[in-house]
Amino acid sequence: MYAQLAAAVFLSTVALATSYQGKLIGSLSELAHQVRGTVYAVDEKRLRITGFNYDGKGPDAYFYIGLHTNPSATPDSQGIKIPDEKGSPGILSAYNNADIILTLPSGYTLQQIKWLSVWCVQFAADFGHVIFPANFVPPRPTNIGEFSRFQHGLRSGDITVLDAKTFLIPALHYDGLGPAAFFWVGTGPRPDSTGLKVPDEDGSLTRLKRYTGETIQIRLPGDLTVFDINWLSMWCIDFNANFGHVLIPANLNVPPYIADQGMSSMNCEPLTEKFHVAWAVNVSHITLELTGIIADEDYMAFGLSGSDTGTQMIGADVTVAWYDSQTGPRAVDYYMSAKSQCSNGVGVCPDIENSTPGTESVNDVSGDQMNGITRIRFTRPLNTGEATDKPIRLDREMYLAWAIGPINPDKRAAYHTVRTTGSQKLQFGRNTRYNCPTLTNKGSNEGKAPWTVKKLSGADGKVFTVRIGPAGSDRGYKAITGRTSWGIALYINDSIIPELTLKRGENYTFLVESGDSDANQAKYHPFYITDDSSGGYSQYTTPAQREAVKIFPGRNESQHPVDYQVGRLCEWEVTSNTNIDAATFDEFFKGLRLRCSVNGTVGVFHWTPDKNTPDTVYYQCYTHRFLGWKIHVVDDYPTTTAGSSSVAAGYYCILGLLLFFLGFQCW
Ligand SMILES: *[C@@H]1O[C@H](CO)[C@@H](O)[C@H](O)[C@H]1NC(C)=O
Ligand SMILES: *[C@@H]1O[C@H](CO)[C@@H](O)[C@H](O)[C@H]1NC(C)=O
Ligand SMILES: *[C@@H]1O[C@H](CO)[C@@H](O)[C@H](O)[C@H]1NC(C)=O
Ligand SMILES: *[C@@H]1O[C@H](CO)[C@@H](O)[C@H](O)[C@H]1NC(C)=O
Ligand SMILES: *[C@@H]1O[C@H](CO)[C@@H](O)[C@H](O)[C@H]1NC(C)=O
Repeated sequence: MYAQLAAAVFLSTVALATSYQGKLIGSLSELAHQVRGTVYAVDEKRLRITGFNYDGKGPDAYFYIGLHTNPSATPDSQGIKIPDEKGSPGILSAYNNADIILTLPSGYTLQQIKWLSVWCVQFAADFGHVIFPANFVPPRPTNIGEFSRFQHGLRSGDITVLDAKTFLIPALHYDGLGPAAFFWVGTGPRPDSTGLKVPDEDGSLTRLKRYTGETIQIRLPGDLTVFDINWLSMWCIDFNANFGHVLIPANLNVPPYIADQGMSSMNCEPLTEKFHVAWAVNVSHITLELTGIIADEDYMAFGLSGSDTGTQMIGADVTVAWYDSQTGPRAVDYYMSAKSQCSNGVGVCPDIENSTPGTESVNDVSGDQMNGITRIRFTRPLNTGEATDKPIRLDREMYLAWAIGPINPDKRAAYHTVRTTGSQKLQFGRNTRYNCPTLTNKGSNEGKAPWTVKKLSGADGKVFTVRIGPAGSDRGYKAITGRTSWGIALYINDSIIPELTLKRGENYTFLVESGDSDANQAKYHPFYITDDSSGGYSQYTTPAQREAVKIFPGRNESQHPVDYQVGRLCEWEVTSNTNIDAATFDEFFKGLRLRCSVNGTVGVFHWTPDKNTPDTVYYQCYTHRFLGWKIHVVDDYPTTTAGSSSVAAGYYCILGLLLFFLGFQCW
């Protein structure tokens, strides 16, 4: 879940280019019969035409290519017919704003081509064409070198960018001992913690296991492409440690990722508008792929009806497939002996728990979950010979049983929320047809919009209070930072993790009330300033981890340099009046109650950013990760804070008073 959220925030901030279709060749000239479209090179053999239009009224029209060996620079009868997007050599019919891929006949590559035309052979008429640019180089998979070898025995052969979303990593070695290592991508000159997890070769987002020379393929999640990132690394998120990485060159000329690749040999039928089943069979096995717009914790169950004459739940043999947020894609062989919860082997039970025990017949499980779309692929034998499995016959139509519902905390299928309507059947052995439209989740808003939190400027005051408060539900810490949250966050001047803008050379004072009880770690949140966007410095145990981040010390109230400061605990607490789902922070904050410890004093942390302070640093908790957020360090305040000087003058009095009451000396 966190990964998705991070993806959402990350994607919305990298300014996504319009999705990459391939290398642009040009637009079709509109000469006749409403021919139009934009032509791209997919790779050395394939062309893609988006927005393709043709009224279908030409008597004898084909896709037609001219080779460089052809003397004429523009379309003429010397061209060569190529098959349509379905591989059919027949006369073209009508297209309406279609997105199609044409594959050149064997023996030809795009580099030999001078033009593509929609050409009427009978009348030697050009309905529309595009001329290829001179010295056109079609996209192809590109070698980007091997992983640098920093830690944990990470090494690989040269990595290939197969297409805009896919990496081929050969001869991968890694000792598997990192506590939370992931494939990790992001922007900037080198790997850092502001990256994003990439699922492993099985589509799983669990921590990486050991590799002993395997060759694997991994794919960027969501809409992310290689053009949006600068590096691919293996990264330990618990320690912000880079085990090794490879930089992604700019201006890669690689094929676009084509989602339905590999599906071309699959059948597909929509079961509902939001639930599709795709399959392919060989003599002994069937591979099924279930794709659904379902809740993240829901399962998709699909299989054969309990009856040969209609859809029936009792006696049905189904596979229950879901995406487990901890362990990744799952698919389990079930048998339904009764319409009840599994109890003593009776009811909706996994085969292995059935009263007539069967075995787990489902294998090769893979899948992913993105933008509210869950996709699980698995394989089973056509005929297992077991009582708990029905044989899948290829020579006839078979009645189906399917359902969608929640997965229980014990990882069992709970009672469905949607199921087969009426009787549905499929012939698994039919000639291959892919009848599914692309499933897009229009309802997904990529996580909830973060609360808008007013930025605080040092121009409006030089003093900041630091307290603890709730991290907020979907719109709070997680949505603002794209990071995981521990349930609490730092509140500065009673705002949840506001961004601060501070000016170099000015003195600022943080009055720390975030907890000083080091006997109770949950109430001990020393305040510090660092270039580490995660914080929690005391959790870094090795010199390498500590050297990877910087602390910007402050001064305590007697002007001694200190790395961090503690102060009594003042915590904003959720009450029965808190609107957890509030759309604004103000609305949420209204329902909180402040509770301050009677023990301890306010900690004072003076801080003066200087010319060596980077433009972005973070206020953080020294002992816990993911509590604080950004400080923008500037040479001059942005010029929008008219009248701020009087405010500033006012605050010195308040500070003076405050420090007086607290028994501190004024400075
Ligand atoms: C059929 O598919 C299964 C599962 O993918 C595979 O193990 C088996 O070798 C295949 N059989 C043939 C004859 O291709
Ligand atoms: C933060 O709060 C302090 C104390 O309430 C106040 O003096 C100061 O002006 C505030 N800072 C800003 C930037 O608003
Ligand atoms: C900031 O504080 C230091 C140390 O107390 C002092 O020497 C300096 O003059 C102060 N600077 C400003 C701009 O107030
Ligand atoms: C400030 O820090 C110094 C050095 O750690 C320490 O000796 C001093 O007592 C601290 N002052 C206060 C008021 O805590
Ligand atoms: C305050 O400190 C005293 C003495 O250390 C302790 O007995 C008491 O429990 C503390 N009170 C709170 C609310 O932490």
